[in-house]
Amino acid sequence: MAYTLPDLPYATDALAPHLSSETLELHHGKHHAGYVAKLNNLTAGEASDADLVQLILDAKPGGLLNNAAQHWNHSFYWRSMSPSGGGVPTGALADALGQAFGSVEAFSKELHDTAATHFGSGWAWLVHDGSTLLVTHTSDADLPLRHAQKALLTIDVWEHAYYVDYRNRRADYLTAFLDHLVNWDFVAENLASV
Ligand code: FE2
Repeated sequence: MAYTLPDLPYATDALAPHLSSETLELHHGKHHAGYVAKLNNLTAGEASDADLVQLILDAKPGGLLNNAAQHWNHSFYWRSMSPSGGGVPTGALADALGQAFGSVEAFSKELHDTAATHFGSGWAWLVHDGSTLLVTHTSDADLPLRHAQKALLTIDVWEHAYYVDYRNRRADYLTAFLDHLVNWDFVAENLASV
């Protein structure tokens, strides 16, 4: 038994030109794979993905939690994007975003601005906190699960997510993510299971 690196849900060149195959090969094949390898070292190969959420909930701050959280975060991030992503959400998701943020456009702006202004490495999120939808951000490996929130969508704002394609222009990566990559079907599925 061991934690495993999930396959990307699309080919490494499927998100180009918004994210290049070089970025995905490095990000998935080196960074995410590295977290999984460290997690397996720290758990001596005696745990598996079925244990991941409980491990994240129970672990004390430190290397074990960081690597477990980064494994969860990246697995969720890959599914937050799609080669046919972007555009605008519809149906119940559009209604829920409108209710919580005033409009879908206002939500997208808040997520973009939150991700753009997050200081240092981390993640921007759409979460459900048990009563409403919120845009949040976390530093380093931290994640909604540790804050009694359910993640619906994430954007990786570590430099390794965008530096090859966008250099220091994080805002351009975020605009491309929201305009062309965000997988609204995945967000809608997550909202439906709240
Ligand atoms: Fe990352």
